[in-house]
Amino acid sequence: MTTRHLPTGAAPETGTFGPVRTAVFPAAGFGTRMLPATKSVPKEMLTVVDRPVIQYGVEEAVASGIGKIVVITAAGKGSLEDHFDASRELEHVLERKGDEANLAVIRGVASMASMSYVRQAHALGLGHAVLLTEPLVGHEPFAVFLPDDIMDGGDDPVMAQLMRVYDEHRCSVIAVERVPREHVSRYGVLAVETIGPRLHRIKDMVEKPAVGAAPSNLAIMGRYILTPTIFEKLRETTPGAGGEIQLTDGIRRLLAEETVLACEYVGTRYDCGSKLGYLRANVEMGLRHPVLGPSVRELLAEILGRS
Ligand code: G1P
Repeated sequence: MTTRHLPTGAAPETGTFGPVRTAVFPAAGFGTRMLPATKSVPKEMLTVVDRPVIQYGVEEAVASGIGKIVVITAAGKGSLEDHFDASRELEHVLERKGDEANLAVIRGVASMASMSYVRQAHALGLGHAVLLTEPLVGHEPFAVFLPDDIMDGGDDPVMAQLMRVYDEHRCSVIAVERVPREHVSRYGVLAVETIGPRLHRIKDMVEKPAVGAAPSNLAIMGRYILTPTIFEKLRETTPGAGGEIQLTDGIRRLLAEETVLACEYVGTRYDCGSKLGYLRANVEMGLRHPVLGPSVRELLAEILGRS
């Protein structure tokens, strides 16, 4: 077997892994930070401007060249499957009305990618959720999208940025961003060696460290490309932060065997798993919406003028 490690300080070599064809979307969480909105509505189905949060991630995957999507769902998340499925009755109604514009919209959502679903029966953690997708992903590298994080890379989708790093180095790649020190305990945090512009080799990582114990302020954001070796490592991973099987702990085990790179992506992340991040996403993406944008700007000016 070819070595999958980069010697310290050396430029990464091309490894043995093939193209990324599948994107995994863990969507089985309860969304407790968004209660009461998420009591009966999955957090991934909350609307940002005119589409549910998860659709932004699926659109990013498709724009990055990934056409096979695997979503990990749970009890009460059926609306996720309905959203990406054909809706014959609604199509019928729109056809009768001659509403071609909306017909195109709903048919587009149902045909944008090949969707599969796997259920996580027990909330055992993000690492456990990813492990459940192994039979659908197979023995090949895959992308992970945490749907709470809407990533706006403009013309260059964040996953496409990671894919370019992957295509060059053929090893796992994680999207990272520098965060204020006082926020590190919300994230997986990295110890790194910088090997290029916005590119680092990960030396160690810790999930939700205390502020004083964080190895840096370089935090994991919700996009990953992982080699299939991660499945072996997740099988060995025991519960960590919050008593859950953490993806970060699985990737930490991977570090002993393979190079894992961190890419400081270019773009804006909206944390739609928090109330303020979700509101910010609606306002900023509303302002940038091609049709609604000018009216949103007027509306905000009017509201601010009154306050
Ligand atoms: C998850 C990951 C964490 C990452 C974060 C980014 O945490 O476990 O490493 O930094 O997403 O959004 P969660 O937000 O699910 O607690």
